[in-house]
Amino acid sequence: MNHFEYKDGALHCEGVALEAIAAAVGTPVYVYSTATLERHVQVMREAFAPTPVLIAFAVKANANIAVLATLAAQGAGADTVSAGEIMRALNAGVPPSRIIFSGVGKTDEELDYALAQGIHQINVESAHELTRLGEIAARRNVEAPVAIRVNPAIGAGGHQKISTGGADAKFGVSAADALALYAAAQAHPHLDPKGLAVHIGSQIRDLEPLRAAFQTLRTLTETLRAQGLPLTRLDLGGGLGVPYFNEPDPPAPAAYAAMAKETLGGLNVDLAIEPGRLIAANAGVLLTRVIRIQARADRRILVLDAGMSDLLRPAMYDAFHDLRPVRPSSQPPAPFDLVGPICETGDTFARARLLAPPQPGDLCAFMTAGAYGAVMASTYNARPLVPETLVRGDRYWVVRRRLSVAEQIALESLPTP
Ligand code: LLP
Repeated sequence: MNHFEYKDGALHCEGVALEAIAAAVGTPVYVYSTATLERHVQVMREAFAPTPVLIAFAVKANANIAVLATLAAQGAGADTVSAGEIMRALNAGVPPSRIIFSGVGKTDEELDYALAQGIHQINVESAHELTRLGEIAARRNVEAPVAIRVNPAIGAGGHQKISTGGADAKFGVSAADALALYAAAQAHPHLDPKGLAVHIGSQIRDLEPLRAAFQTLRTLTETLRAQGLPLTRLDLGGGLGVPYFNEPDPPAPAAYAAMAKETLGGLNVDLAIEPGRLIAANAGVLLTRVIRIQARADRRILVLDAGMSDLLRPAMYDAFHDLRPVRPSSQPPAPFDLVGPICETGDTFARARLLAPPQPGDLCAFMTAGAYGAVMASTYNARPLVPETLVRGDRYWVVRRRLSVAEQIALESLPTP
């Protein structure tokens, strides 16, 4: 079921015409579909059923509190990587018992904050972090629920910059170190080792590296238990890819879940997953307007009012985002370079993209932009920060208003004389 469809010749999100949102809120603007967000949580849950699974949505993919609240209402939790993300999750109504805290650079203040909130699990990524967490938990006189993040020396993902599981990546500890840290946590009066965690990359289109990573978890689980150490949880991370355009479909959630259950079957552990992209990517588009079309000798350049400041992925990872006209025309397609207004060549979304020639003022939508879109937006080139809207049925809400340049300037001040 696709919730971004043409009706009466114009692209809609659920029951709302994108033209209506553009007219009321202006462009560029992100538009999210509630029905898609809800369905993705259900699809993941059904994929694992009857095995229960904590679906801890990776907040980094889309941190808007309206999105988080929508997912929380479906029973999702949150995978967070900063105190700020924990704060957002709590603010959106995610119960602490469904919040996981990951990341290589948690500060003492952030660890203390996480303990104060009583969150579900802290995924520890180094010996130093474990020591600090033990000290902070002792000061609070609590037992910190810990998982050790293993680096299985298996990298995967759609781009080298988003592969996290390779031996040369900064994430997690080796399998050998994981065993040692687990035992150290068990011996510590203020640390409560619950299990292991892994996350090897993002936009993964092949189950085999994931299977190998889960197999590492299985082996380590058996080793720890053979040493008499208790282990009740495994956190499988995120990473499952989504189709961006015209490429073989990545493995379906059902195949992913079947593989996970096959690899980890019989261990009798509580499972958690941390999907981000899979939940949010296809639930959002970036709506943009054509400013002008520049003709060159050899090509035409479509200048859009959205730039790399609004959707960074093409500039950063050479990512492909389909651009659809809000009102399709029947003219024969021609190649266009798709660019934004930002003053660097990196602000190019695509080269020689085939499109039915648009006109200045036309609306278009970058598809599959609900994950790693608005969260990575900036105010570069002194632009307003892009707003976000959430559609449900035939209604929509502005869930983050446009932050004007005047408001940004108001945050700044001149040095005193
Ligand atoms: N868990 C951890 C520990 C992670 O580091 C990540 C993503 C996830 C879960 C969620 O992964 P997903 O299910 O979304 O693949 N900005 C990049 C993606 C960076 C992903 C970083 N970690 C992009 O736009 O492609």
